[in-house]
Amino acid sequence: MLKIDQLVASYGKVRVLHGITLQVKKGALVALIGSNGAGKTTTLRAISGMLRPQSGSVQLGDAEIAGKPAYEIARRGLAHSPEGRRVFPTLPVRDNLELGAYPRLTGARTKGDVAADIERMYELFPRLRERRGQLAGTLSGGEQQMLAMARALMLSPEVLLLDEPSMGLSPKLVEEVFATIARLKAAGITMLLVEQFAAAALEVADFAYVLENGKIALSGEAAKMRDDPAVRAAYLGGGH
Ligand SMILES: Nc1ncnc2c1ncn2[C@@H]1O[C@H](COP(=O)(O)OP(=O)(O)O)[C@@H](O)[C@H]1O
Ligand SMILES: [Mg+2]
Repeated sequence: MLKIDQLVASYGKVRVLHGITLQVKKGALVALIGSNGAGKTTTLRAISGMLRPQSGSVQLGDAEIAGKPAYEIARRGLAHSPEGRRVFPTLPVRDNLELGAYPRLTGARTKGDVAADIERMYELFPRLRERRGQLAGTLSGGEQQMLAMARALMLSPEVLLLDEPSMGLSPKLVEEVFATIARLKAAGITMLLVEQFAAAALEVADFAYVLENGKIALSGEAAKMRDDPAVRAAYLGGGH
């Protein structure tokens, strides 16, 4: 579904991604883990067109999307829930959700029923229904995270990129976020999940890649990685 080959990206003259190769099969949940500054966010930004890659290939389904503008990539069904959530603070919750559907209304994909999909998001995230008229900037961190995920889902994505959905949340909310991710996976949504909580990510993922200094250092089935003593020592802080 999503196939990335030798992706290279830089900020100015500083090269950050040195040829990333990874795959996300249809219906799979793939985790991308690695320490702070490894290049996880940059990888997602280069995939979704927020950052123009220098070279390499990104295939979404049968289409080559590397170097295409972000709106075009979104139109083709790639949704990105960015690091730091980036909801539209001065708009109500409901409008944030509607905007998430916008690229699918302007592209070649099935337009669907936006109102029904908003209703579905309220079922998935009941808190958002309670807050539907409230400006997104006044939501709590956990609520903004739910909104960022719901807004991305409003695209009816072929692939969903999730960047650090647990960042800055209380342990209870982190648990809720991971429970939601498990539900999305059960619903068949194809996802690439970036997480610093590597242990939790490996619990829900099918497959995982470890990023180190802009390169894939290791990859494998999540269950195997979770049980590998070397992985535990190096990436899971030993005992988590
Ligand atoms: N906008 C930017 N301009 C310049 N350098 C950046 C920018 N964003 C990130 N970097 C650098 O790129 C590297 C990878 O960052 P990032 O992809 O955010 O890592 P991660 O998400 O794994 O923590 C880091 O060295 C970071 O300092
Ligand atoms: Mg990051």
